[in-house]
Amino acid sequence: MSDAAVPAPTHPTLEADIAAVLGTRSIVLVGMMGAGKSTIGRRVAARLKLPFADADTEIEAAARMTIPEIFETHGEPYFRDGEARVIARILDNGPIVLATGGGAFMREETRNRIRDRAISIWLKADSDIIMRRVRRRADRPLLHTPDPEATVNRLLSEREPVYRNADLTIASRDVPHDRIVDECLEALHAHLCGARPANEPPPDGLNATS
Ligand code: S3P
Repeated sequence: MSDAAVPAPTHPTLEADIAAVLGTRSIVLVGMMGAGKSTIGRRVAARLKLPFADADTEIEAAARMTIPEIFETHGEPYFRDGEARVIARILDNGPIVLATGGGAFMREETRNRIRDRAISIWLKADSDIIMRRVRRRADRPLLHTPDPEATVNRLLSEREPVYRNADLTIASRDVPHDRIVDECLEALHAHLCGARPANEPPPDGLNATS
């Protein structure tokens, strides 16, 4: 994805409507590595004037280690337990926009917590996009395999049926970030407030409360 200098279409009251009905619920981005959860989440948070947290960053801060170090020193099950605890803590202090690591939603306890405390958005990316993006960084221990592409495809087939349980799905693709952010906000608005953006006049013959 790239940030082109195209002004994003804004709905002045869309963000306010969402914020007004959210209460203490958070917005949680789920999906594969490289789907853009942190990049998009940070921008959604700015638009909604909410704090943003990245679960991976919070885990690293709590453990005082990088994710590769945690995997290497303690193993994946230890990382997953820490991840579940960190996400639970963050969701107890909502509203916030939270980007989760790609495996977090696979744990049932975490899925249930997200269902109870948040609106979830699956940023759905295909394997070509994922591969192109994850090649830029070597900090994903799960991809330290002889055939990272096969690993991504295996993870996708295991995880997509679970990611599908998210409240909303947005296609992550190579378009300006603001376009994906707008799609997230429109989907959130439709989910939380009904389909019509609040600044759009009601259809002919209907009054504003119908
Ligand atoms: C993981 C994804 C990573 C990180 C860890 C495991 C996964 O986060 O939590 O390397 O299981 O898919 P991102 O999705 O932010 O890359």
